[in-house]
Amino acid sequence: MENAATPRIKIAPSILSADFARLGEDIDSIRTADILHFDVMDGSFVPNITFGIPVLKSVRRYTDMKLDAHLMIDRPARYIEDFAKNGADIISVHLEADHPRFIAEALKEMERCHVQKAIALRPITRAEAILPYIEEVDMVLVMTVEPGFGGQAFMESQVEIVRQVRALLDRYNPKCDVEVDGGIARDTAHRIKEAGANVLVAGSSVFGAQDRADAIHMLRTI
Ligand code: DX5
Ligand code: ZN
Repeated sequence: MENAATPRIKIAPSILSADFARLGEDIDSIRTADILHFDVMDGSFVPNITFGIPVLKSVRRYTDMKLDAHLMIDRPARYIEDFAKNGADIISVHLEADHPRFIAEALKEMERCHVQKAIALRPITRAEAILPYIEEVDMVLVMTVEPGFGGQAFMESQVEIVRQVRALLDRYNPKCDVEVDGGIARDTAHRIKEAGANVLVAGSSVFGAQDRADAIHMLRTI
């Protein structure tokens, strides 16, 4: 059941699926979206390595879109200021990436740097893990694949986690967004929205579409 306070649907294409040799054109092609999702991987928290500050800096100069930095890196508190200073509007840190004390510190850093605060959950993490931070975050990111790569199959088991996260937020922080990331496409978007997700990250289903504006519209309205 949708709560009256539940935030509106936002679509966040992930530039992990863009062509980096023509990144500017690819950003133009998704300008009808709400947020640009920026996947940072360190080869340690996840097996893959992507991009970081220099790319963020260039993207920030190029677009006014809201930038959502999803940090799939160990001990993320070390880098919050860098990402904030170089253009991130929202930063997500994984609860599994450090001791809770340092996750709290990362959130404090975000507060100090005036960026929106988000915590991210790997599929193995229980919904209740958000409780220590629940009142102070602007967004909770529930992974619907194991983080590390684009183009993976949606994990059906995460629908229930989204439902549980939304129920906890409705109780303690109803304005908070619930973002989902991984395998979001025509066949999964409706179910996950119905469970309470309102920010939909989509890599391959947007950048792989013939008409990207159409794909964004479909994800928003389906
Ligand atoms: C995966 C990344 C995702 C990824 C999503 O670790 O966090 O943002 O780009 O890609 P798709 O939509 O292709 O599953
Ligand atoms: Zn992501």
